Amino acid sequence: MKLLVVGGGGREHAIIRSLKKNPQVETIYALPGNGGIAADATCVPIGATEIDKIVAFAVENAIDYAVVAPDDPLVLGCVDALEEKGIPCFGPRANAAIIEGSKVFSKNLMHKYGIPTAEYAVFDQMDEALSYLDTAPIPTVVKADGLALGKGVIIAETREAAKTAVRDMMEAGVFGKSGSRVVIEEFLTGPEVSVLAFTDGKVVKPMVSSMDHKRAGDNDTGLNTGGMGTVAPNPYYTPEIAERCMKEIFLPTIAAMNAEGRTFRGCLYFGLMLTPNGPKVIEYNCRFGDPETQVVLPLLESDLLTIMRACTNGTLAETEAHFADKHACCVILASKGYPQSYQKGFPITMTEEAAQHTYVAGAKLENGQLLTSGGRVTGTTAIADTLEQAIREAYRISDGVRFENAYRRSDIGQRALQALK
Ligand code: AMP
Ligand code: GLY
Repeated sequence: MKLLVVGGGGREHAIIRSLKKNPQVETIYALPGNGGIAADATCVPIGATEIDKIVAFAVENAIDYAVVAPDDPLVLGCVDALEEKGIPCFGPRANAAIIEGSKVFSKNLMHKYGIPTAEYAVFDQMDEALSYLDTAPIPTVVKADGLALGKGVIIAETREAAKTAVRDMMEAGVFGKSGSRVVIEEFLTGPEVSVLAFTDGKVVKPMVSSMDHKRAGDNDTGLNTGGMGTVAPNPYYTPEIAERCMKEIFLPTIAAMNAEGRTFRGCLYFGLMLTPNGPKVIEYNCRFGDPETQVVLPLLESDLLTIMRACTNGTLAETEAHFADKHACCVILASKGYPQSYQKGFPITMTEEAAQHTYVAGAKLENGQLLTSGGRVTGTTAIADTLEQAIREAYRISDGVRFENAYRRSDIGQRALQALK
């Protein structure tokens, strides 16, 4: 089989490594991929949002199955466009990807179908948002409606900070069109859990839970990033909570999307907060999370391609999705300065062991040499019988990935470890 994977980060590298385990797979094209992915797939310089070019490439190369991994092509209708040409795909169509593409849509969906989430109000007029904030409970959370590279959420500790966030989004337009509508919502507290789930629109099969580490600095200090590391499973996500989430959140969400005529097929990501009043949805993503995928897929013992095709064909109920009863930890190496400005172009070296355990996110190949080209550069994952061992191994192996100005958090997994004790 000839596969195509749209995207070019650590998540896509992890997906490609898993897909490759299926002996039926002959070729995987990554569009655009990256310098590290080039070791595992044929990279083609077509951007993830160049939908017309992606479709033309898929047709010309007689692609048997396509996986669209990032949010923007999904929201832009990449799956719809490929399907129109008869190419089966993993990922939701645009009318379902809106569950991530518009926070107003997802909040209204949850409200309409009684799915637990933070209380909220929607504004498309700035003066109304500002006067609402005069009396809103503080802290409060201001969110841009549309996609904003994971930066469209501001936790405001004061009224003034909340108003500044509203002005930035609605007047200064720092997130472009994404911020022309805002959601202002209740500030929730509790441990966060990421649950990625396979779904064919009929049944939902949650993957092993995970915990992201979003802040740039140790002890959850500093700016929000795309994620500096992950562990799986998430110790806060007990079997009792999992059962409750299935009943109160996962199944109702699938049913709600069907009722709206927006059947979701693919990977649905539930960003959950375990509040004192039960689990609530913080956000939905219409795709695999990054770096969650870098701990979740290495634990998958069933065949990824088989599961993905079952999601497309509506046969997920009969398909096994089994995860190892082990622990995984992923440590991200980033360019110093990320998520703000940073230098790039530094040579990357890896020991053989590190290369086997490392997914490459922000790197390009130049004359055979891997050079840093992004904020998050690599993710190194270790699997072990205990969380403690997985953490220790992930750090030890990531010592074998070297480049100038490399930065990593030193406490990935520590909160999970505390929770276990
Ligand atoms: P998001 O970009 O939607 O993933 O949000 C980024 C982070 O903001 C989440 O991981 C949470 O830590 C935090 N957050 C979002 N919404 C809320 C909320 N209603 N209450 C508390 N924290 C929140
Ligand atoms: N790690 C969070 C995300 O993928 O959105």
